[in-house]
Amino acid sequence: MTHTFPHNFLWGAATASYQIEGAWDADGKGESIWDRFSHTPGKIEDNSTGDVACDHYRRWREDVALMRRLGLKAYRFSTSWPRVLPCGRGRLEPRGLDFYDHLVDALCAANIEPFLTLYHWDLPQALQDEGGWTNRDVCHAFADYAALMVKRLGDRVRYWTTFNEPAVAAFDGNLMGEHAPGIQDPRVAYQVAHNLMVAHGLAVQAVRAARPDVDAGIVLNLWTSDPASDSPADLAAAELAWQRGEALFLDAVFKGYYPSAVYDLLGGAMPEIRSGDMALITQELDYVGVNFYSRNLVGAEGNVNPVPGAEYTEMGWEVCAPALRRLLNRINRDYRLPPIYITENGAAFKDEVSADGKIHDPRRLDYLKNHFIQTRLAMQDGVDVRGYFVWSLLDNFEWGHGYSKRFGIVRVNYETQERVVKDSGEWYARVIAANAVEEGQP
Ligand code: FCB
Repeated sequence: MTHTFPHNFLWGAATASYQIEGAWDADGKGESIWDRFSHTPGKIEDNSTGDVACDHYRRWREDVALMRRLGLKAYRFSTSWPRVLPCGRGRLEPRGLDFYDHLVDALCAANIEPFLTLYHWDLPQALQDEGGWTNRDVCHAFADYAALMVKRLGDRVRYWTTFNEPAVAAFDGNLMGEHAPGIQDPRVAYQVAHNLMVAHGLAVQAVRAARPDVDAGIVLNLWTSDPASDSPADLAAAELAWQRGEALFLDAVFKGYYPSAVYDLLGGAMPEIRSGDMALITQELDYVGVNFYSRNLVGAEGNVNPVPGAEYTEMGWEVCAPALRRLLNRINRDYRLPPIYITENGAAFKDEVSADGKIHDPRRLDYLKNHFIQTRLAMQDGVDVRGYFVWSLLDNFEWGHGYSKRFGIVRVNYETQERVVKDSGEWYARVIAANAVEEGQP
């Protein structure tokens, strides 16, 4: 069976600045919290850093050529705040801004729609030294940075995402301490979560003030919480997990309040919410990005893990494509949403280079195929999905895991920086060309 997509469906791939650029201190770039974190011994699984990563800062021409060869219609990337404003505010680094300017020109020349994210976690260290996202001044600095970028690139970049996955930035970074800045403090984490929302609202206003004709959105990571059984206790546990995790951000952005489950959880430890904040947070958006990887199977006694008989990726995430269709239908039912883009979806598996020099990665190919199909089915259910970005274009620095997890549809040899398109990438190019996915054999 063939699943054909609407003719203007935006097929793309995604990356993030710190994960691919390298050149961590080149051309006047300031230090980011991820530079500081990865340079701290013991923080990254394989003791690696993003100092070089995919050397994209120097190889971007080659990478745009690769995107063109794959036939990508769009490219989602993030800009590094400290590359442009080394201290987060004040002195501008023109070489940093020129880098993104040239990249955007090259994308436009290749007919690839640039889909820009302003914050994919690399906060200028100078701002962290002022308290990071717990400091409201940082929210205003972010809005100023957003305005600066839109003024320079908004004539060519239509899609402006404020934040990538505020949940991960707040909680992995400030509650679990597994991401930069490596803090483990619930009070800090929830204040950061709220202030990221405030910064989102301020940045949307700043983007629109700078250029009313561009589109503004946010990218959220959403996992479904599926009940382990139909028992009332399991159903309640699953719903509570959804309310505390996903609904926390969805409600704030699309309804202008936090779920009561969050108040119940935090009690007197709620973050400081100033009057007017919730109205600021719930700005009209032009799109919402959904990053989807997996689901949780939740029971009253805790999560079911591993799920018997299920397939897992190298991240330890269950492969469960039907959960994506359920997720899209649920958010479509619960919220008045703007058009949706799947802004990340993909899988880390152990890749091997075969004797023929190729990377046969049937599991990644199947993963993508099944998620494309479930998305198409959700669209037929009535969900307005406009595009899809595979995570990731390139193997890259996977945060706390370093280079040990490969998500790319293109392999990167980190010794030579050679890029080789994997089977999944060649297959994806055929999907894009046909604008359709074949169920069954590739
Ligand atoms: C998401 C991140 C992205 C990448 C994938 C695997 O949470 O946005 O940078 O790490 O997970």
